[in-house]
Amino acid sequence: MLPAMRLLVLGGTSFVGRALVENGVARGWDVTTFNRGRGAWSHPDATRAIGDRLDPGTLVPLGMRDWDVVADTWSGAARAARDAAAVLAPRTRHYAYISSCSVYAPPPPMGVDESAPTVDATPDDEHVADYAVRKRGSEMAIEQAFGDRALLVRPGLVLGPHEDVGRLPWWLLRLARGGEVLAPGPADQPLQLIDARDLAAWMLDAAAAGRHGAYNAVSRRGHATMRSLLAAAMTATGGDATLTWVAPEVIAEQGIEPWSELPIWLPPDHEFRALHAVGVDKIHAAGLVTRPAQDTVADTWAWLSALGEAPPQRADIPPHGLDAPRERAALAAARAA
Ligand SMILES: NC(=O)c1ccc[n+]([C@@H]2O[C@H](COP(=O)([O-])OP(=O)(O)OC[C@H]3O[C@@H](n4cnc5c(N)ncnc54)[C@H](OP(=O)(O)O)[C@@H]3O)[C@@H](O)[C@H]2O)c1
Repeated sequence: MLPAMRLLVLGGTSFVGRALVENGVARGWDVTTFNRGRGAWSHPDATRAIGDRLDPGTLVPLGMRDWDVVADTWSGAARAARDAAAVLAPRTRHYAYISSCSVYAPPPPMGVDESAPTVDATPDDEHVADYAVRKRGSEMAIEQAFGDRALLVRPGLVLGPHEDVGRLPWWLLRLARGGEVLAPGPADQPLQLIDARDLAAWMLDAAAAGRHGAYNAVSRRGHATMRSLLAAAMTATGGDATLTWVAPEVIAEQGIEPWSELPIWLPPDHEFRALHAVGVDKIHAAGLVTRPAQDTVADTWAWLSALGEAPPQRADIPPHGLDAPRERAALAAARAA
C-alpha cells in the first residue's frame, strides 16, 4: 500500500479550510492543521499543531517535516504568507493557496481570466487594509518561494455549509421568517458560485497532480440565477415567504447596497458585475466538478437548522443582509413605481 499523502492545512477550522480538512481525511490522507486553536471545531482524525502565523517562530516545527501538500487559506498580511512559505518550501512538494478573484485590477472585465492584470501588491506587506492587495501579495510570496510548485486558486463567491460570511445563511433565514421578501431583479440574472466542498475537492486533486499557476474557481456562468437560487432556498426552508421581484433601479434609489445588504446579488451594471461573469475555462478543463446549486442550498439549510444558534460570523467582515424596515420601504417604493 502506498503511504498516505501528508497534507498540512494552514487554518482549517472555519469554512473553506474545514472543507479541505474533511476532504483530506475522507481520502485517507494524513492531515495536520495549524492554527491558534481558537475555533471550537477540529477534526477528530486530524493532528492539531497550534501556533500563530504572525509569530513565525511558531511555524518552525512544521518546517522540520515533509509535506506532500500544504493548503493555505490565509487572508491577512502578505508577510505571514511569505514567512510560512519560507519555512515550508525546503520540505514541501506542493503549496496550494486559496486566493480570490478579487486580485484582478478593478474593475475586472466581463469574462476576466487568469491573464488579466492584478492589483499592485508586495509580498512584504504588514498591515494593508485592502483585501485584494493582501491576497495578491500572498500569491506573490508563495510563487516566489515555490515557483512551479505553487497552485493559486482564485474563487469567486463561495457558499455551502459552515459559511461564516453570512450570504446564503442570510437569505435562508430571511425566507424561513416568511412574509413578503424583496427579491432583487432581474430574476434570470446568471450567477457564478462554488460550493466550498467542490473547491476543496478540486484543490486537493490539483495539488496532488502537481498543477501550478493561477486558476479561477467558480461554476460556469448561469449555474444558478437569482430566481433558481431563491426558489431552492424557499423549497429548503419550506416557509410561507412570497417573493416580490424589484427592479435594480428601485433598489438603487433606496440606497440599498448590492452584495452586502442583498447578499450574492449584483445589479447588471455594477462595476464588479464580472464577479458573476468570471472566465472559468481553465479550471473546468482541469476537471472542476460543481454540484447543483440546489444541493448547496439544501445542505446549507440542513446545517443551519441543526445549529440551534446564530450562524458563525467572521470577525473581519460586517454582517450581511437587509434590515426589515429598509426592506419594507423598498417594497413600498416598488409598489409605487
Ligand atoms: N467566502 C468567499 O466568498 C470567498 C471568496 C473568495 C476567496 N475566499 C477566501 O477563502 C478563504 C476562506 O478561508 P476560511 O476562513 O474559510 O478558512 P479556514 O481555514 O476554515 O479558517 C481560517 C483559519 O485561520 C486560522 N487563523 C486565523 N488567524 C491565524 C493566525 N494568526 N495564525 C494561525 N492561524 C490563524 C483560524 O484559526 P484560529 O482562529 O484558531 O487561529 C482558522 O482555522 C479566505 O482566504 C478568503 O479570502 C472566500
